[in-house]
Amino acid sequence: MQSLTFTRPDDWHLHLRDGAALAAVLPDTARRFARAIVMPNLKPPVTTVASAAAYRRRILAALPAGLSFEPLMTLYLTDETSPEEIAAASRSGFVHGVKLYPAGATTNSAAGVTDLGKCRMALARMEALGLPLLVHGEATDPAVDIFDREAVFIERVAIPLLKDFPALRLVFEHITTDHAVQFVMAAGENVAATITAHHLLLNRNAIFQGGIRPHLYCLPVLKREAHRLALVAAATSGNPKFFLGTDSAPHAKSAKESGCGCAGCYTAHAGIELYAQVFDAAAALDRLEGFASHYGADFYRLARNSGKITLVRESWVPPATVPFLGADPLVPLPAGESIAWRLQP
Ligand code: DOR
Ligand code: ZN
Repeated sequence: MQSLTFTRPDDWHLHLRDGAALAAVLPDTARRFARAIVMPNLKPPVTTVASAAAYRRRILAALPAGLSFEPLMTLYLTDETSPEEIAAASRSGFVHGVKLYPAGATTNSAAGVTDLGKCRMALARMEALGLPLLVHGEATDPAVDIFDREAVFIERVAIPLLKDFPALRLVFEHITTDHAVQFVMAAGENVAATITAHHLLLNRNAIFQGGIRPHLYCLPVLKREAHRLALVAAATSGNPKFFLGTDSAPHAKSAKESGCGCAGCYTAHAGIELYAQVFDAAAALDRLEGFASHYGADFYRLARNSGKITLVRESWVPPATVPFLGADPLVPLPAGESIAWRLQP
């Protein structure tokens, strides 16, 4: 197959940031994706419907003329999120989920949830209203090995959560292990998962290949090859519980190449092309449209897109850096390596 035309995809997990950073990265996403679930981990986080509305307006204002894109907003769950705020979010028409960051789990998660027991009223309202909970599924207990955090989260948090709120609609975000694949497959139709391109393409060896590679550090951290293979099998299986979420997470080069570098991989510049490469390698290009353009919309109870995009089999090399914050660029993944599929303008 030399070219592939299919329904315009959506990105069900994206970090757009704010201000100059937002303006720098938004066109990469809007050229490829019709919509994206926008993460609320700004500083300060987006915890109210009013702040989500204001952030949504800033995103739309940053969109260059000629591009159309719909930001699907989320709220950042805290110990204090009230059931009234959940009800207002559900009514708003533009808030499509509530994000659970266990406090301390990742970038800008300090204001996250310290104990899910404190969120019972909010969770009950979400369950009743069908507003999805989007989870960063990593245990935060510092005694837990970093490579086991997802599995331990499933045991300690996700299983008890679904026991208490069996009808809660839940998206297990950026899954990285076979444990998460099995958990999602065994759960009811109310449970789904997003998978990033970088977790499909790379295993943890890549972080240490020939030296330390800070641009391949993200959270949850890349896992061993057996887990990558389980993710590829899930993504290319045609099971509608698994859909595209890039988790493209821009950080300036200086913040990544540092004594304590930030977590996050930038992939929005090739946000659909990298997945095409994965599906091609798995001889599953015929299943890319379901994963990228159908199943997420179906789960979120939104109409599928009507537009189309075309990818051609044509090798190109992404730039080594992308302009980001003035003199501080960002380094996209995989800088300097070729990508086998190109988006037709
Ligand atoms: O690698 C990550 N980067 N994981 C997250 O959960 C957050 C994200 C970010 O915001 O940079
Ligand atoms: Zn994320």
